[in-house]
Amino acid sequence: MSRAPGFWLRTYGCQMNVLDSEKVANLLHHAGWAAAAAADDADLLLINTCSIRAKAEDRLYSDLGALRAWRDARPGRVLGVAGCVAQQVGDALLARFPQVDFVCGTHHLRHVPAMVEAARGGRRAARTGESASLDRFDLPDRHPDLASATPGRAYVTAMEGCDMFCSFCIVPRTRGREISRPAAEVLREVQDLAGRGVREVTLLGQTVNAYGRPRPGPGDAERVPFARLLGRLAEVPGIARLRYTSPHPIFFDAELVRAHGELPNLCPHVHLPVQSGSDSVLARMRRRHRADAYRHLVDALRRARPDLALTTDLIVGFPGETDAEFRDTLALVRDVGFVDSFSFKYSPRPGTAAAGLGDPVAPERAQARLEELQGLQRGLTLAAHRARVGEVTEVLVEGPSRRGGRQRSGRDPYHRVVNWQPEGPADAEPGALVALRVAEATPHSLIGEPLAGGGAVKLAPRQADEPERIAVSGG
Ligand code: 5AD
Ligand code: SF4
Repeated sequence: MSRAPGFWLRTYGCQMNVLDSEKVANLLHHAGWAAAAAADDADLLLINTCSIRAKAEDRLYSDLGALRAWRDARPGRVLGVAGCVAQQVGDALLARFPQVDFVCGTHHLRHVPAMVEAARGGRRAARTGESASLDRFDLPDRHPDLASATPGRAYVTAMEGCDMFCSFCIVPRTRGREISRPAAEVLREVQDLAGRGVREVTLLGQTVNAYGRPRPGPGDAERVPFARLLGRLAEVPGIARLRYTSPHPIFFDAELVRAHGELPNLCPHVHLPVQSGSDSVLARMRRRHRADAYRHLVDALRRARPDLALTTDLIVGFPGETDAEFRDTLALVRDVGFVDSFSFKYSPRPGTAAAGLGDPVAPERAQARLEELQGLQRGLTLAAHRARVGEVTEVLVEGPSRRGGRQRSGRDPYHRVVNWQPEGPADAEPGALVALRVAEATPHSLIGEPLAGGGAVKLAPRQADEPERIAVSGG
């Protein structure tokens, strides 16, 4: 009996990379491959890379060193590199690493099966040219054997690329120019997912709310403003939760702000990167907004949706950052009251405008600032969690919690992690929506408990013209 060849994907980086890996897995299934149980069983190993900071890129190089033995252990094995480092470094990877069979940039994922076949025939190649075409979105439907990472939840590409060129950021070089998918295609994909039981959809794009900006090129007439796209998707029967990430502050219009008050299934959480609270740093970062504009946007969003939870991204130690400028960041974080934030030490990236700036911040100073900022955030997060004790919240079950045992884990509409001890199958099954009471707050998550009466509360699937309803079982 001949077995299907097995693939193993290793994914680094953001949600866009996670979704890209899923797209590659789907393509490989359609080409007759199967997911291997482990890298040691695989015939193909593909690393989907991230280059946002130097550390992420370095991880690839140390992986490739270790994978030389993997490739030599069995004749015919193929080792590929895809994603942002592939796009950035290109065929120099082939020259530097003889163990790499192919290099596939972010615009060429649909060519992975053909590149693997060529590699099996002994032909090494790199495809990393930038493309302005919509072809990259032309992908086959979901293969029945494709395992879902989290049942009930899916990422959907709305747009790709970035034209903002923030001075610290390599993304415009690794993801290319902004391109939006036609609205009808996004809608069709979401309808299809809903038909397969998906309840939560997260729209993805490097600057997702730039979706639909008029651009020259094919398909332009089929695009609509981002808020209108959300409005259409919110009406798809079965979609209980809509999210999007990551928006840029300058692409919020009045319609998008209003959508947060008007669309009941648009989740009350926005991840809204600000990077710094200092106007002078924001200017050097070429962010195109000031700290005040950001605060006003937050106020407007909270007027539309008073319970909105905000999270953000922050960079410390940007070239020339003074103590006073760093204090401005602390002040903004405190004033906005982020529920959570991701903060990073600035890492110079090749080819970016900031890489040419002098006046670096000493590493130990940057580290001290990072720790101070993260300390402030820990306090804010814990306070936000404590304020929610006693509340009833709705959780999409993801799977076993990291704490082990029978505990389950999932996320609530505010994107907070909730862990709980399930009562039975109804509140344990991945993909189910369950209602829980917040019993306890921890620094990183909430602890939930079944509602009083002992009954697991499961949210029934929404019918076409019906509002969400709660069915109580066993209570
Ligand atoms: N150095 C440090 N952090 C960076 N980010 C992007 N580029 C860099 C860099 N050169 C951070 C930003 C961005 C997040 C995804 O990564 O905060 O929002
Ligand atoms: Fe990078 Fe700025 Fe584009 Fe975000 S908006 S991906 S930080 S260049």
